Amino acid sequence: MSEVLVCKDGEIVEGGVRVITAGEVEIGVIRHGGKYYAYRNHCPHQGGPVCEGVRMPAVLDIIAPDRTFLQQDYDKNDMHIVCPWHAYEFHLEDGVNVCDKRIRLQKFNVVEKNGAVYVNV
Ligand code: FES
Repeated sequence: MSEVLVCKDGEIVEGGVRVITAGEVEIGVIRHGGKYYAYRNHCPHQGGPVCEGVRMPAVLDIIAPDRTFLQQDYDKNDMHIVCPWHAYEFHLEDGVNVCDKRIRLQKFNVVEKNGAVYVNV
């Protein structure tokens, strides 16, 4: 395993992404909530550049105690990465597909040290 330099800390703006190449692998490093997440930029559906898709909160149905639908709202604690090709959605936190837990993005460990950001590849 090797450590690949992504950037100096702060170069990726909040909500931003930087795609790097490590050998044959493209990795998207996303900054959200002051934290970094790194995934292979390759959607398990058909290979789309998933890390370059929009990120948006999960949509929740708000249901009344009598089980009637009230409204929808965003769950800002559950951000999704939306693949730009066919809109498969993955939880930003762990890369697991929203609809099928068997489908997941390849995740990489992110290390912050000495004022820089690295991924372990
Ligand atoms: S390639 Fe990502 S949803 Fe199809």
